[in-house]
Amino acid sequence: MLARILSAALRGVEAALVRVEVDVSSGLPAFMTVGLPDSAVRESRERVRTAIRNAGFPFPSDRITVNLAPADLRKEGAAFDLPIALGILAATGLLKPRDEPFVVVGELALDGQIQPVRGTLAVVLACRRRGITTVLVPAGNRTEAGAVGGVRPLGAATLREAVALLNGETEETPPPAAPVVDAAIDDVDFTDVRGQAHAKRALEIAAGGGHNVLLVGPPGGGKTMLARRLPTILPPLGSDEAIDVTTIWSVTGLLPSRTALVRHRPFRAPHHTISVAGLVGGGSPPHPGEVTLAHLGVLFMDELPEFAQHVLESLRQPLEDGRVTIARASGIADFPARFQLVGAANPCRRGCASLDLCVCTPAERSRYLGRLSRPLLDRIDLQVELPAVTHTELSTPPGDTSAVVRQRVEAARDRQRRRLRGAIRVNADLSARQIRRVCVVPGDAERLLGAAMSQLGLSARGHDRVLKVARTIADLEGTDSITAEHCAEALQYRGLDRRWRP
Ligand SMILES: Nc1ncnc2c1ncn2[C@@H]1O[C@H](COP(=O)(O)OP(=O)(O)OP(=O)(O)O)[C@@H](O)[C@H]1O
Ligand SMILES: [Mg+2]
Repeated sequence: MLARILSAALRGVEAALVRVEVDVSSGLPAFMTVGLPDSAVRESRERVRTAIRNAGFPFPSDRITVNLAPADLRKEGAAFDLPIALGILAATGLLKPRDEPFVVVGELALDGQIQPVRGTLAVVLACRRRGITTVLVPAGNRTEAGAVGGVRPLGAATLREAVALLNGETEETPPPAAPVVDAAIDDVDFTDVRGQAHAKRALEIAAGGGHNVLLVGPPGGGKTMLARRLPTILPPLGSDEAIDVTTIWSVTGLLPSRTALVRHRPFRAPHHTISVAGLVGGGSPPHPGEVTLAHLGVLFMDELPEFAQHVLESLRQPLEDGRVTIARASGIADFPARFQLVGAANPCRRGCASLDLCVCTPAERSRYLGRLSRPLLDRIDLQVELPAVTHTELSTPPGDTSAVVRQRVEAARDRQRRRLRGAIRVNADLSARQIRRVCVVPGDAERLLGAAMSQLGLSARGHDRVLKVARTIADLEGTDSITAEHCAEALQYRGLDRRWRP
């Protein structure tokens, strides 16, 4: 007899529906899987056979053929165990047919327990797109699956429970209320950082318009400290954004079990020994990298010049497009990567306190910051030089708390959202055409920008980026018109490499 169960395969950070067809017919006992399965899926035969027996069901001693369709989509992982097992039970009449379609994912342990799988939220979103309203998931993924409306998730902890639920013999017991992950921002606040008013202002602007920042300064001045506090002044994720981020976490297995939606912005801080594949994604089949894990959040690259040159250059495409496209023989993967880059660096290899006190030769200095190429620096809107902190500054009263700064940031972002009313939400993402429309500057500001272009050697991209920062500064001030003062402040954050690399 032939049975069909719907399941889903992950492709990048999305899921595609897969038909699991199981045929049980008389013949010599055999168990075959066809339809481009990877080794984990082929191994699932042994898990399925043992789990069915240990769950107390008879395992047919006939010829079993399992086909995963469409055949041209590569299927990886162990999430097909449960649909294959249910397919066999349906083909032998132990699972009753249901009228409405439903989707099943889950990995089986040998004793018939159902283990959580990666990407459940992506599967639920695929069901919603296809109008399928019921999805059976491992109990450990039940909370995550319930994070979006429109689909009714059923959670089962064992194969027996799954069969009973689908046969309508038992009702599902709803899980306890879901925790929302908000704990990632640990106990840190802007007020921890003393002095460094200029750098704090730059981070407020960065948060206000989603701009990339580079913090350059002597060791022990608070660069790492400041960067780690950027998430505390960023607004929480909107509901669509929360679904996007949670899906990525779910697909990559980062989502803590029994979690509904991730509400805080991701903060990723990869070590400088990371590879290109680790940073932007890669492998076969392609897996997402740190830039995707930082989607809609912060990618913090401490000691930026220490990253390998080709690793730094691989950032250029995601920084420009907000996406990463990876082509492999097994197919093309397209990963979202709209993140805010925060880089930190010492201005020279020895970490001298300031340009005046620097004992490195000009050639050494030039070589060190020279590892950051012009095209990369061009994409960093705010380049901030931090002085060493003085003793007096350490005992001065702290400035505004993160909560106060965040309110100003949120107000500035509201202005941008109202003005842009589209897919783009922050000034940093403005296209060239939008810049012409929303960053109109008066004549004196235009002259200032012209002079700066020649003095700082600003490229056309650099010019546009200064305009975006000026737009954000005006938004933080709560005004629609950009003035020469706004442009002058924006220009202060350019040309750092010119000073340190004569
Ligand atoms: N501005 C500051 N206010 C208060 N404490 C500070 C400040 N700057 C540094 N500190 C103290 O020094 C420690 C080190 O600071 P941090 O790691 O941020 O320095 P850094 O600039 O990243 O140095 P490096 O270049 O060596 O990485 C902090 O944990 C904190 O205790
Ligand atoms: Mg540091």
